[in-house]
Amino acid sequence: MYLDDDILDTIFDSAIKNNNIIKNRQVLTIDYVPDKLLFRTKESTAIAQSLSVILKKGRPSNLLIFGKPGTGKTAVVKNVIDHLYNKTKELDINLRVPFINAKNSNTPYKILYEIAELLGINKEERKMQVYFTGLSMSEATDRILDFVRRRSIKVVLVIDEIDSLVNRKGDDILYNFTRANERISSDQFISLIGISNSLTFKDKLDPRVKSSLSEEELVFNPYTIEQLKQILVDRCKLAFYDNVIPIGVINLCAAIAGRETGDARKAIDLLRVAAEIAETSMTMKISEDHIRSAQQKIDSDTNFEILRNSTLHTKLVIFAIIKSKNGSTGEIYTIYQDFCSRIQQEALTQRRMTQIVGELDQLGLITTNIVNQGRYGRTQRIKLHIQISSVKEAIKNDPILSPFIGNIN
Ligand SMILES: Nc1ncnc2c1ncn2[C@@H]1O[C@H](COP(=O)(O)OP(=O)(O)OP(=O)(O)O)[C@@H](O)[C@H]1O
Ligand SMILES: [Mg+2]
Repeated sequence: MYLDDDILDTIFDSAIKNNNIIKNRQVLTIDYVPDKLLFRTKESTAIAQSLSVILKKGRPSNLLIFGKPGTGKTAVVKNVIDHLYNKTKELDINLRVPFINAKNSNTPYKILYEIAELLGINKEERKMQVYFTGLSMSEATDRILDFVRRRSIKVVLVIDEIDSLVNRKGDDILYNFTRANERISSDQFISLIGISNSLTFKDKLDPRVKSSLSEEELVFNPYTIEQLKQILVDRCKLAFYDNVIPIGVINLCAAIAGRETGDARKAIDLLRVAAEIAETSMTMKISEDHIRSAQQKIDSDTNFEILRNSTLHTKLVIFAIIKSKNGSTGEIYTIYQDFCSRIQQEALTQRRMTQIVGELDQLGLITTNIVNQGRYGRTQRIKLHIQISSVKEAIKNDPILSPFIGNIN
């Protein structure tokens, strides 16, 4: 059978025809940093002031930035760095700003490799390269520090999502870099900006690193619903054609994201997914229903990802919750133990299982209610909060657990 060319033409023609909602898709993507950031003057000023000593030939303090997801940390830092970089160019100051995302570079060595790449070592110093693999951590660090010293370079090293580096016991890197500054002069330095969305991350740091890394600290607060509205209005002007999105729809979007977390990314994601739904349903406007469908889609995608990536025991606890009749911790634990023995796994303690239940509750995958049982006291009732079909879908390809699918309904 030959492919019918008409089919392809129809697909492309309809894509052209239905292009009357989104004017600029790129401004709705995760990496897009708008030129104008609203409501972050105080934070931008603080970072700019801290870094401005570079222009006066000094070394800026290390800076630690905290704030919940989607509060603009990455966007603000990128924006300030861009402005600073342009100024240093005008003044002929040799500044380099490697921007690393510790979550993407999944081993501490890979982070060193990326720093070397972004600093230009691997291009400029063929003999002292930090290879993709093969050097010890300390050799790789020495090569980086040596390069900075010999070339008299000023470095502001930004490590975004720094908590994931520390969680993987990668804080040796931070120790080495913060210590290095004590040994080199202010003409050549590596100052650090760490960005984290976990407020408790500092507690996990080695005490020696903690004090030097947090010479200065800055906290980003969640946006209010009103602020999210304005951020969305701005973004909509860039993203959509006129009259595609009524103000009531923007308000709903801001209300949903604001009520949950004050997260601008969530608000923008809702818009993007709603616009995609509107496009496929061939309408010319985005409606409140599109936003609600978008929210459902995002939530179920997120739940799906969490489920798929959770540990074997967490999945078994979820199965036990599904199977449980009265939803009590005791019953769930018995069922869980039974599942474990069927696949020859040692069961975790009941205390640990209760912790897992707490984590699932926080993630919104289950609900727990305290029920009063008169003279028998109070007891917890645990229920699954998501569709059983999502659970089945998420374990479909899991070799150990897929045989259980028939068991859960
Ligand atoms: N003040 C603002 N004005 C306009 N857009 C904003 C503002 N703050 C955040 N955004 C947008 O919201 C999204 C999320 O922001 P950003 O990535 O900076 O958050 P974050 O605090 O780094 O979150 P995370 O901790 O999850 O990395 C981006 O698309 C960004 O452009
Ligand atoms: Mg970020």
